[in-house]
Amino acid sequence: MKKNLVLGVSGGIAVYKALEIVSLLVKKDINVNVIMTESATKFVTPLSFQSLSQNMVTCDMFAEPKAWEIQHISLAEKADVFLVAPATANIIGKVANGIADDMLSTTIMATKAKVIFAPAMNTNMYENPIVQENIKKLKSLGYEFIDPAEGRLACGTSGKGKLESPEIIVDKVLMELNENKDLLNKNVVVTAGPTIAPIDPVRFITNRSTGKMGYAIAKEARNRGANVTLISGPTSIIAPKDINVVEVSTNEEMKNEVMNIFDEADIVIKSAAVADYKPKNYSTQKIKKGDGELCIEFIRDNDILMELGSKKKNQILVGFAAESQELKDNAMSKLQRKNLDYIVANDITASDTGFASEDNKVIILSKEGKEIYLDKMSKEKIATNLFDIILEKR
Ligand SMILES: Cc1cc2nc3c(=O)[nH]c(=O)nc-3n(C[C@H](O)[C@H](O)[C@H](O)COP(=O)(O)O)c2cc1C
Repeated sequence: MKKNLVLGVSGGIAVYKALEIVSLLVKKDINVNVIMTESATKFVTPLSFQSLSQNMVTCDMFAEPKAWEIQHISLAEKADVFLVAPATANIIGKVANGIADDMLSTTIMATKAKVIFAPAMNTNMYENPIVQENIKKLKSLGYEFIDPAEGRLACGTSGKGKLESPEIIVDKVLMELNENKDLLNKNVVVTAGPTIAPIDPVRFITNRSTGKMGYAIAKEARNRGANVTLISGPTSIIAPKDINVVEVSTNEEMKNEVMNIFDEADIVIKSAAVADYKPKNYSTQKIKKGDGELCIEFIRDNDILMELGSKKKNQILVGFAAESQELKDNAMSKLQRKNLDYIVANDITASDTGFASEDNKVIILSKEGKEIYLDKMSKEKIATNLFDIILEKR
């Protein structure tokens, strides 16, 4: 069954970004009901929210309802999570002081769902001690906040007060909507993205990994209650909230970071595409262009997965195999050689899955001989399946 999110939209310049939030949530199969304050409707019409959410938008508490129900109560009860984005100084102040004088403030008052505010306002407003006191009071009562970001604000000033990015807000909502906490208090380490091998101060070699698979795995583990460390090579993905992201660039750096926390880890998932080779000699000066060919000699770099496999005690160790031929046999041989518990094998020759794609199609093999074929699906769904398999739920 679909999860229900009630989105309260209050009257700030960032209202247009709430449209993107609705769109992203609908794509994740979440049912979204929008409540707009009267001020919010001055910025964007309810029709836009209605079209994107495919639900009627509620604005007026005293409007004739389409069906007999008291809407602020029915929406309050329907909400699995209640998000207010953008949250004005006004709505924060009203809720903090028990005021329920319109549809949004009244529904927030009536809900037992988790309420998350994503404030957005001018920096002076945000830093105003009254606003800060209201936020503090609400936090102490269990309301959650997604702090605004710093940057250039619509009013022309720069500072804290910018609505956090829709991706981060949606990510937080998805985390709250996940009630399955079967990784609670487990330490999960995930590696993601490519590594780079520098040739000289301006050149390096790397690979086509974007980190999408690893980031999806890290978020899934976090959503299921784990303490997650994500050791990431260079990617363009925004660092997710509530995950300890450690940025690295070379194989050596990635190895050091993984080894540092390996003893405390319960599950280690190595989805990074770590460079196997590096130039034998790093040139401290930029290599000058010549007329002839340039030959660079490469040597083997660390095999991090192999080292983890030989050091492993009680950890569950999961590797990835990107293969272009004999997928299953090559993956199985890697699983055995490197002492892994599971291996996720993907065929990188398919153009619509794998590197840079939103989807993946994999076979998950276990050391006990299980073979699970996951047809083409989103990397998020692969991540969900992977943990279900590790936790022996399928
Ligand atoms: C152009 C414009 C932009 C505004 N932007 C914000 C804003 O970003 N954050 C905020 O707290 N208030 C902002 N306000 C003020 C709110 O609209 C005002 O406080 C209003 O009473 C909020 O009502 P609501 O909380 O019921 O939506 C803005 C007002 C105008 C006219």
